[in-house]
Amino acid sequence: MSADAAGRTGITVGVPAETKDRERRVALTPSAVHMAVDLGHRVLVQADAGEGAGFSDEEYAKAGASLVPDPAEVWAADVVVKVKEPQPAEYEHFRPGLTLFAYLHLAAEPALTKALVSSGIRAYAFETLTDRHGLPLLAPMSEIAGRAAAIVGAAQLSASSGGSGTLMGGAAGVPPAKVLVIGLGVAGTMAARGCRGLGAHVTGVDVDLQRLYEHHLDGTVDATQISEQALVGEHVREADLVIGAALVPGARAPVVVTEEQVATMRPGSAVVDLAIDQGGCVETARPTTLSEPTYLEHGVVHYCVTNVPGQFPRTASAALSAAVAPKLLTLADEVAAGRAGTDEEDARLVGARNVADGRIVHEAVAEVFPDLGGADA
Ligand SMILES: NC(=O)c1ccc[n+]([C@@H]2O[C@H](COP(=O)([O-])OP(=O)(O)OC[C@H]3O[C@@H](n4cnc5c(N)ncnc54)[C@H](O)[C@@H]3O)[C@@H](O)[C@H]2O)c1
Repeated sequence: MSADAAGRTGITVGVPAETKDRERRVALTPSAVHMAVDLGHRVLVQADAGEGAGFSDEEYAKAGASLVPDPAEVWAADVVVKVKEPQPAEYEHFRPGLTLFAYLHLAAEPALTKALVSSGIRAYAFETLTDRHGLPLLAPMSEIAGRAAAIVGAAQLSASSGGSGTLMGGAAGVPPAKVLVIGLGVAGTMAARGCRGLGAHVTGVDVDLQRLYEHHLDGTVDATQISEQALVGEHVREADLVIGAALVPGARAPVVVTEEQVATMRPGSAVVDLAIDQGGCVETARPTTLSEPTYLEHGVVHYCVTNVPGQFPRTASAALSAAVAPKLLTLADEVAAGRAGTDEEDARLVGARNVADGRIVHEAVAEVFPDLGGADA
């Protein structure tokens, strides 16, 4: 940490290159780096970190960043901001005094959770930060993943992908594909709109009646269904494509579609479970990668990629960085003032706090790991 001529305390922010399979996003664009540098912070960007998203080292250098080749040097910063949850090879960088700000999805990541808790790090999760609009750091990626789900879902139904050969919009005299969207939040709404845009018949499922009412009125979906397992099962049997997007923030995703129900689907139909990053809302879903995105179970194609927006790094990095930068600057102020992780911390950050002082401090995450010191959180 250092104070500038005006007496403001700047911290060091590290932006490592992403290491997850085929992940090409970067957490901060050059314009966000410029903002942080302008406020007196030192920003270390790993060389080539922005390349996959179309941002060159020269652009970062022009914005005031220091480019460093060695990830260990980036991880030595006061605050590390990155996109995806750290991969096992990155756990060695965890240390007391380090503040991490990233997507963590701990409910589906027991090994990472243990590594964070035992290291003494402070970990803030993008996906649990709340404001009056909802989940502002999850929403931009959910928007992109939802739009993408319509595209990849439609592609899974093609015969060349091993699907049934059903076209979303059908044809004159041939009914359209039936799509079931589980959870009509940000991702589900965008997926439903995308599928309707392709001409499919879309049924939306949620536990929130008000949400169903609004989407019933605004025409996002053709039909709505309250989320009761037996009733949902009837739609699953008929569906060509099931898109999972149900979320209870911080918690393991609710299992809305059982294996028994998946087994009733026609061969060559498809499941795209976006909620897989929180464990999946379809029982047969298990995490897949961008390199190997699909597998067959009960004759149904499953696409359960945990970093769908990683395929659209230019758009996704710009959207994510715009949302993250203001929160990062608040976090940097709290770290500089020594308030991070304490009761005096800015209330706008509290929802994001997942791990501090060697224990889980987010209630919903703590319920998933009662043995990791979170039971009294
Ligand atoms: N795989 C990816 O690459 C990727 C990318 C972005 C987001 N996501 C994930 O997509 C999921 C949805 O995110 P979001 O931002 O749309 O969340 P959101 O909070 O906006 O919406 C979630 C919706 O699920 C509903 N819901 C909760 N329990 C339900 C149940 N039992 N049955 C039916 N609906 C239920 C809620 O009422 C809400 O409408 C999250 O798990 C998120 O992490 C995945």
